[in-house]
Amino acid sequence: CFKNKRAIYNHKLFEGVTMTHYFTDNWEKVKNFKAKPDDVVIATYPKAGTTWMSEIVDQLFFGEIRRESSSPSIFDRVPFLEFCEDFQTESLLTSPRLIKTHLPVQLVPQSFWEQNCRMIYVARNPKDIMVSYYHFDRMNKIQPDPGAWEEYIDKFNTGQLVFGSWYDHVQGWWEKSRSYSRICYVFFEDMREDPAREISRLCSFLGLSPNETQKKEVLRKTGFEEMKKSMADALSNNDEFDESVSPFMRKGIVGDWKNHFTVAQNEAFNEEYRKKMKESDLKFKMEI
Ligand code: PPS
Repeated sequence: CFKNKRAIYNHKLFEGVTMTHYFTDNWEKVKNFKAKPDDVVIATYPKAGTTWMSEIVDQLFFGEIRRESSSPSIFDRVPFLEFCEDFQTESLLTSPRLIKTHLPVQLVPQSFWEQNCRMIYVARNPKDIMVSYYHFDRMNKIQPDPGAWEEYIDKFNTGQLVFGSWYDHVQGWWEKSRSYSRICYVFFEDMREDPAREISRLCSFLGLSPNETQKKEVLRKTGFEEMKKSMADALSNNDEFDESVSPFMRKGIVGDWKNHFTVAQNEAFNEEYRKKMKESDLKFKMEI
C-alpha cells in the first residue's frame, strides 16, 4: 500500500501541527495511552538521533539479555507511539517500557506527565536536520515528496514538514524541561563529540550504574558503523524505505549541511534562524 507514492507537502494541520494521517489515524488510542511510572520516553523532532538514542537506552537496560539471543530490530524494540497500531505488542512487555515519539511537547499524552515518567529529548542542529530529513523524505514512501531543496528550506522555516515547526519543537521541550525535572535534554552534536560522557549523563538520569566493561560494550554497539551493520536486516525488510534512493543510516555526522547549502542559502537561513531563536537561550552547535 506504500508503493504508490505519494502526497506532496500541503500543510495539513492537526492540532496546529503539520501531520500526515499515518500519525493521526490512531489518535484516540494514542491520546488515551496509559503510561506506567517507569516508562522511558525518547522524544525527538524527526532525524535528530531517535534511533541512535533508542539503541543506547535499550542497550543500557537490556544489553546483557540481548546478547544471549538474537534480538528484534531497534524499530521493534522501541515502538513508535503515534505509529503503533497495537499497544499489546511484545516490545511493550519489557520493564521498563521504552517508547519513542516525535510529538511536540503539547501533544504528548497526559498520562506520561501524570505518571511522572522519565523522558529523554534529543535535539539536533537545524541545518543537519534539514539535510537528513530531505534525504529521508526522498526515500520514505509514506512521507510527502520533498520537492526541490531550495523550497525545502522554506518549508522547514514555515513549519510545513511533518511534525511541524522544528523551532517550536525544540523550544517547547526546552521550556518544559525547566518545570518538569524528569526530562533529560541531550544534543546530537554532544553525542558525536563525546558519546561516553553523554552515556554517563544518561546513566545518572536513568539511575543506572553499568561497570566499565558494560559501558564500553554499549559504546561499541551504538557506534555508527556497528549500528549500520546490525540494522541491515531490519532496513532491507522495511516496506516504507527505499534504501536504493538514500540509506537510512546515511552519514551520521555533524556539518554535512555544508555539502548542501549554498553560501546564499546559508546566509538567508542564518538570518531567519536568528529571528526565530532570538527569545531563546537554546544554543546549537552547527559544527564540532
Ligand atoms: S527518524 O527517521 O526520525 O527516526 O530518524 P533518526 O533516527 O532520528 O535520525 C536519523 C539520523 O541519525 C543518524 N544516526 C546516527 N548518527 C551517528 N551515530 C549513530 N549510531 C547513528 N544512528 C543513526 C542517521 O545516520 C541519520 O542522520 P544522517 O545525517 O541522515 O546520516
